[in-house]
Amino acid sequence: MLKLGVNIDHTATLRQARYKGYTHGEPDPVSVALLCEEAGADGITAHLREDRRHIQDRDIFALRQQIKTRLNMEMANNPEMVEIALRLKPDIVCIVPERRQEVTTEGGLDALGQESSLTETVRRLKDSGIEVSLFLSPDTAQIEAARRIGSQFIELHTGAFAEACYVGPDAEEAEVQRLITAANQAHQLGLKVNAGHGINYTNIRQIYRVPHLVELNIGHSIISRSVTVGIVRAVQEMLELMKEYKQ
Ligand code: PXP
Repeated sequence: MLKLGVNIDHTATLRQARYKGYTHGEPDPVSVALLCEEAGADGITAHLREDRRHIQDRDIFALRQQIKTRLNMEMANNPEMVEIALRLKPDIVCIVPERRQEVTTEGGLDALGQESSLTETVRRLKDSGIEVSLFLSPDTAQIEAARRIGSQFIELHTGAFAEACYVGPDAEEAEVQRLITAANQAHQLGLKVNAGHGINYTNIRQIYRVPHLVELNIGHSIISRSVTVGIVRAVQEMLELMKEYKQ
C-alpha cells in the first residue's frame, strides 16, 4: 500500500511567524506530528534548513524521541547537517538542494554535479544505519547518478507536474509521462521510489499513474487543509484518496 509521510515544516513556519527567537510558541510541530500518526500517517518528514527558517534543532530531536512511525529528515548535503543526522539517527535522510532565497525546495538535487561528495555523505549515513534518498527531478542522468552514489531511494520531484496542472492538460500529461519514465528507470536500476512536492487533494489522482511508488511526502496541502478541518481529518482524507493507488 502507498505510504504517506506528512511534512510538518509549515506548522513550524506558522510558529516562527510569531515566535522567532523564542524557545516556546504554538503550534508545536511535535504535537501536530503525533496527531498525524494518530490519523494513520506512515511517517513524519521535517526539513532542518541551514537558515532554520521553520524547523529548529529542538523540534527535530523532540520528533525523534516522540514519534512512533518513521522520521524522514530532509537536509542539504553539508558537513553541519551530516553531523546532526549522525547524532539524530532518523530512519531515513532525504538529501535536498537548498538555495537561500527559495521559498521552498524548488528543483531537484544536482546528483551528477556533486557525485563524489554525495557518495561520501551517503556512505557515512548508511554506515550508521540510516537509509538515504535523493530528491531528484525526473531526469535520466540524475537517476543514473543516484544509483552510482549508492542511495537506496530516490524521491521524484513532482513540483513541475504540480505547476503543469495549472497550465493545461498537455503540459500536465507531459509531466506525468516524465514521472512514469523516471519511476520505471529507477525501479529497473534497483532504486526504491518516493515522490513529493506540490501534491494536493486534486492532482494526486494523476500521480497514481506513476508506477513503483513506495511513499508520497506531502506537506503544504495537508497543513493548509488542517486550518479548516483539523489535522486528523486532513490526513485521513489524503489517506482515503491514496487507497486508489494500484501498484
Ligand atoms: N518532498 C521534499 C523533498 C520537499 O522538500 C518537500 C517540501 O518542499 C516536500 C516533499 C513537500 O512538498 P509540499 O509541501 O509541496 O507538499
